[in-house]
Amino acid sequence: MADEEKRIDAETGTETTGHSWDGIEELNTPLPRWWLWTFYACIVFAIGYAIWYPAWPGATSGAVGGTLRQGVAADIAEHAKGQAVWRDRINAAPLEEIVKDDQLLTFANSAGKAAFGVNCSQCHGSGAQGFAGYPNLNDDAWLWGGSLDEIYHTIRHGVRNEDSDDARYSEMPAFGDILAKAEITDVANHVMSLGALEHDAGAAARGAEVYADNCSACHGETGAGDPEQGAPRLNDAIWLFGGDADHITAQIKQPAHGVMPAWGLRLDDDTVKALAVYVHGLGGGD
Ligand code: HEC
Ligand code: HEC
Repeated sequence: MADEEKRIDAETGTETTGHSWDGIEELNTPLPRWWLWTFYACIVFAIGYAIWYPAWPGATSGAVGGTLRQGVAADIAEHAKGQAVWRDRINAAPLEEIVKDDQLLTFANSAGKAAFGVNCSQCHGSGAQGFAGYPNLNDDAWLWGGSLDEIYHTIRHGVRNEDSDDARYSEMPAFGDILAKAEITDVANHVMSLGALEHDAGAAARGAEVYADNCSACHGETGAGDPEQGAPRLNDAIWLFGGDADHITAQIKQPAHGVMPAWGLRLDDDTVKALAVYVHGLGGGD
C-alpha cells in the first residue's frame, strides 16, 4: 500500500508524489514552462474575449456592441428603409408615369430584374429567352398583348390558372377529334405556308378552307393571331412550341394549354409593377 512519503527519485532527480502502488512510485514531473505560459495566455485571452464580444447569449452585448449577425440585420433594415421610399413611389405612380421618370424607371428596372431572377427565370429562362411552351419575352411578339397595361395584367392574373378570376383564358380545341386525318395534314401544311416553312403546296391550298372554317376565328384570316384569345401569330418565324411539321401537327391534334401562376397573389403590387416595366423594357413597345 501507499506509504505517502515524498522523496527525490534518484534516477531522474524528480520529486515523487508520495503515491506508491506495489512499489511503483509516481513522479511529480513539473509542467513544461512553455505549456504553462500558453495556458495562462489562453486564460487572459478568454477574459478579454468575453468582455469584447457578446459571450453570454442574451446576457452581455460585448464592448464591440453586438454580433455580426445583428450588424447584417441592421444593414438590411437600413436598406429596406431606403427602398421603402421608392416602393411607395412605384405604388403611387401609374405605369406610364414610371417609364417616363428616369429615376423611377431605373429603380423599377433593377427591382424587376431581381424579382425576375427569383420568380420567373425557371420558366422563362434567366435571359427571358423562353423555352418550348414558355414564351420568349425579349422579342416583340406577344400572345396576350405587349403594352404596359396588358403585360401588367398578364403577370398579375396569370394565364389559365384557377387562382385568379381575371386570369387570361382561352382553349384551342383538340382538332384530332374534330377533323379527318387528311384535313389535319392539309391545314398543317397551310399553317406552314403562312409561316414560310417548307410545305406541300397542294395540301396547303386544300388546307386554306379548313383553316378559314376552323382556325381563323382565333388565329386571324392571314394568321396574324389574336391577343384577346392568346392565339399566337402563325405568319411569322416565332413558334411557341416548335416550327416544324411534327410540332404543328401535334398542336392541332391535341393542343397544349400554357399555364402561368397569378403573381398578384404572391408578390406585392409594387413588385408586379416593377416586373411589368422590366418585361416591357425587354421587348415591349406595342
Ligand atoms: C411555372 C412557369 C412560369 C413561371 C414561373 C412564370 N411564367 Fe410567365 N408564362 C408561363 C407560360 C406557360 C406562359 C404562356 C402562357 C400561354 O401559353 O398563353 C407565360 C406567359 C407570360 C407572359 C405573356 C407573354 C406573352 O407573349 O403575352 C408574360 C408577360 C409572363 N409570362 C411574365 C412572367 C413573369 C414576369 C414571371 C415572374 C413573375 C413569370 N412569367 C413566371 C409560365 C411561367
Ligand atoms: C379558340 C381559339 C383557337 C382556335 C379555334 C384555334 N386555335 Fe390554335 N391556338 C390557340 C391558342 C390559345 C394557342 C396557344 C396555346 C398556348 O398558348 O398554350 C394556339 C396555338 C396554335 C399553334 C402553335 C403555334 C406556335 O407558335 O407554336 C398552332 C400551330 C395552331 N394553334 C394552329 C391552329 C389551327 C391549324 C387551328 C384550326 C384547325 C387552330 N389553331 C384553331 C387558339 C386557337
